[in-house]
Amino acid sequence: MKIAMVGSGYVGLVSGACFADFGHDVVCIDKDQSKIDRLHDGIMPIYEPGLDALVESNFKAGRLSFTTSLSEGIKGASAIFIAVGTPSRRGDGHADLSFVYAVAAEVGEHLSNNAVIVTKSTVPVGTGDEVERIIKDSGTTRTFSVVSNPEFLREGAAIRDFKRPDRIVIGAEDDFGRDIMHEVYRPLFLNESPILFTERRTSELIKYAANAFLATKITFINEMADLCEKVGADIQDVSRGIGMDNRIGSKFLHAGPGYGGSCFPKDTLALLKTAEDYDSPTRIVEAVVKTNDSRKRAMGRKVLDALGGAEKARGKKAGLLGLTFKPNTDDMRDSPAIAIAQTLTDAGVIVSAYDPEGMDIAKPIMPDVAMCDDPYSAIEGVDVVAIVTEWDAFRALDMKRLKELVAAPVLVDLRNIYNPEDMRAAGFTYASIGRN
Ligand code: UDX
Repeated sequence: MKIAMVGSGYVGLVSGACFADFGHDVVCIDKDQSKIDRLHDGIMPIYEPGLDALVESNFKAGRLSFTTSLSEGIKGASAIFIAVGTPSRRGDGHADLSFVYAVAAEVGEHLSNNAVIVTKSTVPVGTGDEVERIIKDSGTTRTFSVVSNPEFLREGAAIRDFKRPDRIVIGAEDDFGRDIMHEVYRPLFLNESPILFTERRTSELIKYAANAFLATKITFINEMADLCEKVGADIQDVSRGIGMDNRIGSKFLHAGPGYGGSCFPKDTLALLKTAEDYDSPTRIVEAVVKTNDSRKRAMGRKVLDALGGAEKARGKKAGLLGLTFKPNTDDMRDSPAIAIAQTLTDAGVIVSAYDPEGMDIAKPIMPDVAMCDDPYSAIEGVDVVAIVTEWDAFRALDMKRLKELVAAPVLVDLRNIYNPEDMRAAGFTYASIGRN
C-alpha cells in the first residue's frame, strides 16, 4: 500500500519510517527543502534513538522516499496522513490548526485517486469535520474519507512505542475509512496489538484525555511527594504501594520536577480551551496545569535552599546535570530546567550545565548558563550540584571524583536516582524529592 506522510517532524518521520519498515511504500513530505535534503543525506532533523538506522535501511530498500512536493507525494497514496505541527496559539492556548487546514486544502486540490485522509497531528475535537469540509469545498470528485488516528509515541522510545503500541485508536465515520486503516495497520494487527475503532470525535478526544490523565497522575504524585517531605514519609514507597493496586497501575508515578515536553503542556492547555468553548469545565486539569507550572519554579527554590536560601545564594555557583525535559531526547520544550536555571540566575547564582544532547538547543534559551563538555567540568568548583534530568550517564557518577571537584559536597537530586543513605555515607549533603 502506498502511504503519504505530510509533515516530516517527530511524529511524521517516526511513523513514516515504521510504516515503511512494515513493508508499505511511504513518501514523507515536508515544505522545508533543507530538511528534505538532509534526510536524503541520512541526517535526522531530530534526535531519536534508532531512527537514523531505520530511515537509512528503508530508504536504501526503496520503501521510504522524501519530497517537498505534496502533489507528487500523494499521487496514488491510499492513505494520506497529516502529521504537521499544532502548536499552542499565542495568548489563548488553543491548538493552532492553520498548518493542518492548509494541508487539507492542498490535498483536496491535488487528490487524484480515492484515499483516506488521516489526522495524526493532535487536534481538538471537531477538526476532522473541518478537514472534511475543506476537502469537499475543493471540489474534488474523488471518494475520500477523513479519519482520526492519534499518536501516543513517547520521545526517546518512539520506535518501540510505534511497533508495540498499547493500542491503536482509529476514529472513522464510514467503512471505506475503516477498511483502509485496517490495511494500514495489518502488520500490527497480526502482532495482536489492540485496535479500537470509534467515531471520529471520540478518537480526537481520546488523545487529549489520555495525556491529561497522565499529566494528572504525575502532578498527583508530585504533590504527594511534597506531603511526604512534610510528614516524614517516603514517596518511592508510596508510589510502589499505590502502584501495586492494578486499578491505579505503577506507571507515571515517578515524582520529579514537573512534566515538560511537547505534548503534556500543550495538550492540557488545548483541552482546557475546548472545555471552555463547550462550557464544560475540567477543573482537575486546570489545577494540574497551575500546579505543574508553579512546581518548576519551586524546584529552583529547592536548589536555592540547598545554598542556604535566596539571600545567601548571590555569587554562589550551581552545576546542573541534565537540561532536556526527559532523557534520550534533545527536546527542551517546557523543560523544568528552564525555570530552575531562571530562578537561580535571578537570585544571582552563577550556573553551569551539562546535557548529553540538549545543549545546542538549550544555549539560546538560557544564555546566562555556561554549557560544559562533560558532567565533571559542569560541577567543578560549584556550591551545589542539581540533577535535573535522569540521563543514564548521571546514574553512576564517580562520587569520589565529584566530591573532590566541587566547592561544597551538596547534591540536589530532582529525579531520585541516588539512594539517600549512600549519598550521606559518601559525605554529601543530599536532598531529593519526597524522601527524608
Ligand atoms: C507523552 C506521552 O507519554 C505520549 O503518549 C504522547 O504521545 C506524547 O506525550 P513524551 O512527552 O515524549 O510523551 O514524554 P513522557 O515520557 O510521557 O514524559 C512527559 C513528562 O513527564 C517528562 O517531563 C517526564 O519527566 C515526566 N514524567 C513522566 C514524570 O515526571 N514522572 C513520570 O512518572 C513520568
